[in-house]
Amino acid sequence: MNKILILYYSQSGQLTEIVKNFAKPFENSDEYTVTYANIEPVKEFGFPWKGYKFFDAFPESVNRIPCELKPIDLGDENFDLIVFAYSVWYMSPSIPSNSFLLSEQAKRIFKNKPVITLLGVRNMWVVAQEYIKQKIAELGGNLIGNIVLRDRSENLTGIVTISYFLFTGKKDRFLGFFPKPGVSQKDIEGSAEFGEIVKNHFDNNKTETLQNALIEAKAVKINPYLATTEQMAYKRVFTKWSGFILKKGGPDDPARKTRVRIFTYYFPFAILVIAPLEYVFFLIFAPFRLKAIKKDIKYFSGVKLKSSN
Ligand SMILES: Cc1cc2nc3c(=O)[nH]c(=O)nc-3n(C[C@H](O)[C@H](O)[C@H](O)COP(=O)(O)O)c2cc1C
Repeated sequence: MNKILILYYSQSGQLTEIVKNFAKPFENSDEYTVTYANIEPVKEFGFPWKGYKFFDAFPESVNRIPCELKPIDLGDENFDLIVFAYSVWYMSPSIPSNSFLLSEQAKRIFKNKPVITLLGVRNMWVVAQEYIKQKIAELGGNLIGNIVLRDRSENLTGIVTISYFLFTGKKDRFLGFFPKPGVSQKDIEGSAEFGEIVKNHFDNNKTETLQNALIEAKAVKINPYLATTEQMAYKRVFTKWSGFILKKGGPDDPARKTRVRIFTYYFPFAILVIAPLEYVFFLIFAPFRLKAIKKDIKYFSGVKLKSSN
């Protein structure tokens, strides 16, 4: 009997649905037991989000500062396969998911274990995943597969629809004509197929070829423009702003609040003005960067860390 642990944190229930569909092939097998571990912060962030709170979560997300979590009782804590399912907040793992990875319990359960990462995101996740790859390696885990479910709409449309979703909690069509926000129901249900691929490879001890099979099944798709933009934005913009906000006191410090409020104006400007400009530059320079772009696509589709390549 193989024991699978599925760790996840979901606010809207989107990632919970993904996880449950992914796990179906394991649930339907007598050879597996599935343990779901719902990560819960002591102080909830609140969903749907309120405007200020959404931006106030920015510096701690970007600087990967943990929050306090409710204890999770996992019995003997010895699992054969771990699925770490997470959403991305500001190009970082969501604060509760990251907090779990930084916990003493994570040190105990990840050591020498095969790990699958399963993401439910909008469309910018490669920076977060690089950090997660590093953390799993530090915990002694072995990342064998990565699956990313994303919003398939065009970038700016997706920004409008995810904002509607996050601030109202509704997953219907904004104004009646925008596409539905987030990961589509078809993709959510389709994650059972990825579960099947993982199960087959695990059953047959073929974990080295798992990620290639997942890539073939389109479990991961790299958009080179988004990958380039997010790496630049995280390094040059996000870390600078988070440092600027965190220089002031805790969440109730009026000076921090002022800085967060300034950021609430800068953020839409960056998305609506700077990102499209970046797109134009990306297109202009793309023909001269084809080799680097191809290398990026290959690397970010995989599960290896740059240093261990
Ligand atoms: C504060 C916040 C920041 C987010 N930032 C990103 C991001 O940088 N990249 C991305 O692809 N999705 C981002 N999202 C979308 C989430 O990854 C996720 O798809 C959505 O919140 C639904 O997840 P849930 O199942 O936890 O409700 C963000 C969501 C929130 C709440």
